[in-house]
Amino acid sequence: MEEREIGKLLELAKRALENAYVPYSNFRVGAVLVAKDGRIFTGVNVENASYGLTNCAERTAIFKAVSEGAREFETLVVIADTDKPVSPCGACRQVMAEFGNFRVILANTKGEYLETSVSELLPLSFSGDELKQHEK
Ligand code: THU
Repeated sequence: MEEREIGKLLELAKRALENAYVPYSNFRVGAVLVAKDGRIFTGVNVENASYGLTNCAERTAIFKAVSEGAREFETLVVIADTDKPVSPCGACRQVMAEFGNFRVILANTKGEYLETSVSELLPLSFSGDELKQHEK
């Protein structure tokens, strides 16, 4: 992916950080999801007093997109104010895998990033195909 394009997405993701709702961890995470139809969905982590109900930035962006009718994705950017580019949790990786194998860019607010993919983040993932085989 072109560096200029990545730069724009990182800027958007950085801006989204402002909306993170993080009264418990104070750890802001932002996401930007580019759908194949060109639409862009942002996401932030949304925490809860019942900690386990917290929704990560990545899943927020994916759920927003799916609820607006987008299911095919090109790129997901994840950003946080971390020393190294932030890495998505296991739950988010599984939710990503539900929607195929797309580019994932892990970034930090210093502008460092690395390009990876869903299948690299979650090799040998469990998929709905297993369930379909089971039905037969
Ligand atoms: N968090 C994310 O939003 N994405 C990740 O991939 C890792 C963790 C959030 C959840 C919680 O609000 C905070 O970071 C600390 O775990």
